Amino acid sequence: MAMPRSKIAGIGKYVPQQVVTNQHLTQYMDTNDDWIQERTGIKERRYAHRTEETTTTMGVEAAKIAIERAGLTPADIDFIVFATLSPDYYFPGCGVLVQRALNMGEIGALDVRNQCSGFVYALSVADQFIKTGMYKNILVIGAEKHSFGLDFSTRGRNVSVIFGDGAAAVVLQPTHQANQGILSTHLHSDGHSAEILAMYNPGTHANHWVPQPVAHFDEAEIGQMFMSHAMIDDAQNFPYMDGPAVFKKAVVKFPEVIMEALAANGLQASNLNLLIPHQANLRIAQYVQQKLGLTDAQVYNNIQHYGNTTAASVPLALCEAWENGKVNPGDLVCLAAFGSGFTWASALLRW
Ligand code: UT7
Repeated sequence: MAMPRSKIAGIGKYVPQQVVTNQHLTQYMDTNDDWIQERTGIKERRYAHRTEETTTTMGVEAAKIAIERAGLTPADIDFIVFATLSPDYYFPGCGVLVQRALNMGEIGALDVRNQCSGFVYALSVADQFIKTGMYKNILVIGAEKHSFGLDFSTRGRNVSVIFGDGAAAVVLQPTHQANQGILSTHLHSDGHSAEILAMYNPGTHANHWVPQPVAHFDEAEIGQMFMSHAMIDDAQNFPYMDGPAVFKKAVVKFPEVIMEALAANGLQASNLNLLIPHQANLRIAQYVQQKLGLTDAQVYNNIQHYGNTTAASVPLALCEAWENGKVNPGDLVCLAAFGSGFTWASALLRW
């Protein structure tokens, strides 16, 4: 029998209850609703409960819905791929925490760290395992709890107003139907600009994270060790982003990777029923739409209500579009993302 394709057999999303409006953020930093809406399209975002919700707990809630909609139980899942940049722990990753939370068997669990394109990368990884026949029911999750670590002072406003919390998940299964499933995925990176959208610490680029009483350090070095107050004062415990530089690259790479997916399948932008771009900035999505000559009905955006949820953003938008009846059997759907790394990716699929 021919190699199967992977289809999305179930999809689910979870967003925390707490809605944080642009107005709300003005309490903490010098910003305003007009600036945020004009530059990003964002009206509000969700923040997870400070102590009771984590990236994993949100991912688990989304996963439960995706598994149920696939007509399965957690016991049927044979592999987990979890994409996030805001894991519960530095290590281990969130995949094993999902395995535990859902009482699953001793299945494989893999974490993907590709930031905004994390979900599309994770989907691509899962797709390969399905196509080779290694697994039959793969749970792919994208989730983020950004609110735990943003700089809510005016210094961090260019980053902190953009990001929001949330999660979404899909279950991938093999299909032999001709007009269904993932047609192709396309993955790219360019590490030359790794530092222009990054959270540097804790990381081995720097000095030791804890004082090391080892002979080859002198007293002065020991004084610089650990996350010092100077580093904290210098905002080195927060994500850094050169927004305009990211914007410039994004508006080139988004159309490129979407066209690459279409061309690989002998299709054109006009054939698309729906483009789900990573929800980085509504202005980027609008630029991409215009560049590809797509109508409003061919592009789904929900950044207005959730902000940029990084690894969760593509599946969150796909899930919402599906729940709103905008994704139907046979539809040609393109998922595309660009972000920190830089990494960028696309997936073209027939629903
Ligand atoms: O998903 C991950 C990938 N990330 C992205 O794709 C982000 C891409 N970049 C962007 O979306 C945009 O660059 C931003 C929305 C982050 C920023 O928009 P911008 O139009 O590029 O603004 P800017 O950074 O050039 O800043 C313009 C001005 C500055 O003031 P001055 O120097 O002109 O006086 C900023 O200090 O806007 C100021 N500013 C703000 N003002 C009010 C920056 N952030 C804010 C804010 N509220 N939150």
